[in-house]
Amino acid sequence: MAAFWFGILSAISLPLGAWVGIWTRPKERITAAIMAYGGGALLAALTLELVHDALKHGGFWPLATGCVAGGLAFAFLNQLLNHQGGFLRKTTTLMKHLKILKRRKTAATLEHLSTIQILRLLPPSEIHGLVPYIRERKFPAGSRLIAEGDPGDEIYFVEAGKIEVIQGGRPVAELGPGEVFGEMALLTDEKRSATVLAKTDVDVLELHKQDFGRLMASSPKLAGDFQRLVESRKSANQISGQPMDMETWATQAKSHATSSTVHVTSADVKEAIATHAQGGAPMAIWLGIFLDGIPESAVIGASLVGESKVSAALIAGLFLANFPESMSSSVGMKKMGMSTMKISWLWGSLCIMTGVGAYFGNILFQTATPQMLALFEGLAAGAMLAMIAETMIPEAFQEGGSVVGMSTILGFLSAIFVKTLER
Ligand code: CMP
Repeated sequence: MAAFWFGILSAISLPLGAWVGIWTRPKERITAAIMAYGGGALLAALTLELVHDALKHGGFWPLATGCVAGGLAFAFLNQLLNHQGGFLRKTTTLMKHLKILKRRKTAATLEHLSTIQILRLLPPSEIHGLVPYIRERKFPAGSRLIAEGDPGDEIYFVEAGKIEVIQGGRPVAELGPGEVFGEMALLTDEKRSATVLAKTDVDVLELHKQDFGRLMASSPKLAGDFQRLVESRKSANQISGQPMDMETWATQAKSHATSSTVHVTSADVKEAIATHAQGGAPMAIWLGIFLDGIPESAVIGASLVGESKVSAALIAGLFLANFPESMSSSVGMKKMGMSTMKISWLWGSLCIMTGVGAYFGNILFQTATPQMLALFEGLAAGAMLAMIAETMIPEAFQEGGSVVGMSTILGFLSAIFVKTLER
């Protein structure tokens, strides 16, 4: 029963942290500093308690085997839950997930842009800057995309289908995939020179005047080519320059759209929250936090085997690690529209689950041989290390930056200091 109560004690900071988070809305740097402090304390506690005991019980190999298995299990389950919407539980996982989605979308848009001949005159390394401003639009056959004499605000690139250009009631040109239209009004500041109709269903990429202007300003070469395009349309000449081949251009453009150039905006965050907040996400969030808590309860259960009291350093480390976790997550949950009641229930139930986990962990470990015990201790240590490395420290760093290093060291030393008091 002691394991149960120690489990509860270590996790009581979950509901406490959630309430402090909701009511005080602490600064991000403060939450980050506490989180790094907790992470450091956990690192020391798990090394002093779990690793030390595991080595005593079974030596290096059972510990190492357990550690690797624990780390892999954590990574696998974490990934699985994140796909279900569990990534919403933490800022870091949310950002990481959105970045992956955004990179995929950027790659798809670049693939589409590579079909536009004139854009391939641009160096592929420059094109990714344009991606956030491109809108993909579809028009059914027969619809009018541009009316002669109107003011012009957009330029279009044909991705698929055919359009017809009609001037003064007379068809003057038919344009297809890879070609551009609507550029004249933007470059000459005159009214639309012709009407453009969709001859078939068409897919176009649309770019607003201002963003097109920015593109022109950033590339004098492209600006010159667009000027020549306008001239050629007026006088039926061909444009100059040899565009790069589509595949090479697209590959190079995508290689330049690295994570540093793909930015997640607050609009992306809002959209993700809106699409995931319903459906399975709350359950996935709960399971995700539960997953973070499994190694903890196992640690408590395992550390109590054969001993009457649990290490104060360990409980303190866990308590400190849990507090900022729920503090920062709860602020996010509140923003997602979850009620204080629901958030309290979520963390409260997790606190009880930690107690139950510690209880069963303890029973399980009672009957284990020393070798098995070392393996289990390794498993808990591995899962916990993976949790600290994959979620706690990156989250703290993202929110707090340089404050993380020193806070981690202080946490680490605090746990060791508590340990020296035990002797
Ligand atoms: P804009 O004048 O902005 O709007 C109508 C568009 O039709 C125009 O830009 C050109 O993109 C396109 N267009 C006009 N005349 C021709 C032409 N002779 N050949 C091809 N496209 C044209």
